[in-house]
Amino acid sequence: MKKELTKFMAGVCLVGMMSPMAFAAPAQAPSSPVMFEKESDEVEYREHLMDLIGNYTGAIGAVVKKKFPYETDEQKKKVEEVTAAIAALASQASIGFERELSAGTKASPDIWKKKPEFMQKMNDMVTQARNLHTAAGTGNYDKLKAAFGDYAATCKACHKAFKE
Ligand code: HEC
Repeated sequence: MKKELTKFMAGVCLVGMMSPMAFAAPAQAPSSPVMFEKESDEVEYREHLMDLIGNYTGAIGAVVKKKFPYETDEQKKKVEEVTAAIAALASQASIGFERELSAGTKASPDIWKKKPEFMQKMNDMVTQARNLHTAAGTGNYDKLKAAFGDYAATCKACHKAFKE
């Protein structure tokens, strides 16, 4: 429980930093050119981002599994804030996949062979992450659970096709 709470607190800080971007950003890859000088930095960045998404997703998964109480307004508000952070992170997850960098990573070379399909799967995650945030805003457990299922399915769909 202590660990989950730390994650929730981290979520609150992150939301403060990132939420304006989350709602302004379109659900697609940044069109800017490669923003990392070193290839290893690019890989490191995207892997950190994915790990963060994994951790935040795990926190909401714990709520869905009723390991974290979801009863009071305060508890529901915390959950909503974490889902806002998830929406913000999801909209940035395509950063770091610009250059073909698969050697020594779990990224499949197919990402760069089928870039539109990969980006579609990224967009699916962004869409479902936003739906998750909306569902969390209702404070209704069943809605949260259903939206979480749809959101988590987008992770699996991409990992199955593009992660080794
Ligand atoms: C559009 C594709 C795509 C989507 C969507 C996606 N991932 Fe990933 N994910 C990847 C790729 C590719 C890697 C491997 C990156 C690397 O090794 O450089 C990865 C790696 C990871 C890793 C870390 C490495 C590991 O396998 O141990 C975690 C954790 C992770 N993803 C969680 C998630 C979660 C949770 C979601 C859904 C909320 C998600 N991902 C959605 C493509 C995706």
